[in-house]
Amino acid sequence: MQKIIVVPGDGIGPEVTEEAVTTLQALGADLEFTFLDQINADRYLRDGVALTDSELELIRTGGTVLFGAVGDPRVTTPDYARGVLLRLRTELDLFVNYRPAVLLDERLSPLRDESRRGIDCVVVRENTEGLYSGVGGSLRAGTPDEIAVDQEMSTYLGVSRVIEYAYGIARRSVCMVDKSNAVRFGGQLWQRVWRAARERHTEVASSHLYVDAAAMKLITDAPSFDVIVTNNSYGDILSDLTAELAGGLGTAASANINPQTGAGLYEPVHGSAPDIVGKGLANPAGAVLSAALLLRDRGLKSEAEALEQAVRHTLAQRRCTPDLGGTLSTRQAGEAIRAALS
Ligand code: NAD
Ligand code: IPM
Ligand code: MN
Repeated sequence: MQKIIVVPGDGIGPEVTEEAVTTLQALGADLEFTFLDQINADRYLRDGVALTDSELELIRTGGTVLFGAVGDPRVTTPDYARGVLLRLRTELDLFVNYRPAVLLDERLSPLRDESRRGIDCVVVRENTEGLYSGVGGSLRAGTPDEIAVDQEMSTYLGVSRVIEYAYGIARRSVCMVDKSNAVRFGGQLWQRVWRAARERHTEVASSHLYVDAAAMKLITDAPSFDVIVTNNSYGDILSDLTAELAGGLGTAASANINPQTGAGLYEPVHGSAPDIVGKGLANPAGAVLSAALLLRDRGLKSEAEALEQAVRHTLAQRRCTPDLGGTLSTRQAGEAIRAALS
């Protein structure tokens, strides 16, 4: 029995998560679901509560998390997203954000040149430090003399374990992406740790790119990438780019994991998409493929493959939502995936 805690969240989060859960149920696997749908922006706006300590404890001890999205246009500070998603990532020490990008169907690539389309890579994003650490402060806020400082924190432990993970999953190569030509101290730390890892892993090809050049090369030569390992903020940005190259943001899946403890939170790369909420326009593929990553990590490999095959099959037949050129609603796209399961 696998216990899955479902946190649908905000916006299209509940819409796509419902399709993912129904599709998991259709697999007939031994899964037990607990829903925490009270964790949302409405509660935050009403009570000022992002995530309670008892919810955190339930999540910590209760199983693997299937997450929708957090974010609401009425919430204007980062405290809410930090209080839910970033708190879960750090409290559960989910130091790897695994964001695979595999071209789901030829016609979905935005690239004109066929030879540039064959993307099959993973962004391994450091998920607990960097610019997201919350270290910093402000002086004279609200005045013309305001100073705001957000410090980018990199620790030897944090950088080492994520780079080691990247080498551990590489099939061909690891490209380490940083901005060490401009960022002084963290840049040196990432460089030093990566060079040592490169020496230990001569079985894998190693390369380095500055993040601006990496963004460029993802467009000119995406097929050359296997594993990209980078810090929290560059990983956030590059994974939206790889998502779009692989089929579209609505299809991109991610796993927030601690490979040492086995803890995991699985969520689509996209957000709560307030511009399309409630319209049946949300593509459920990213949520379903995130559920597939969850199953794979729990040892349910054939079930995971069944979900992935079903998604590919529906996309090839254009049985999908309008973002990918289809005419189906979120629910209908979920039903098409389930129909393709057999
Ligand atoms: P977004 O990912 O929500 O949306 C970006 C664009 O992609 C929008 O035009 C949206 O309509 C479209 N899109 C996203 N998911 C889609 C789907 N499944 N199907 C079809 N189209 C889809 O990013 P944003 O607009 O920058 O952020 C909106 C809110 O979500 C903000 O509050 C942000 O902080 C939050 N957010 C949360 C997460 C998360 O929970 N992991 C991730 C990103 C953004
Ligand atoms: C993501 C999101 C989050 C992030 C936001 C909502 C804080 O963009 O999961 O990619 O930046 O990590
Ligand atoms: Mn993001």
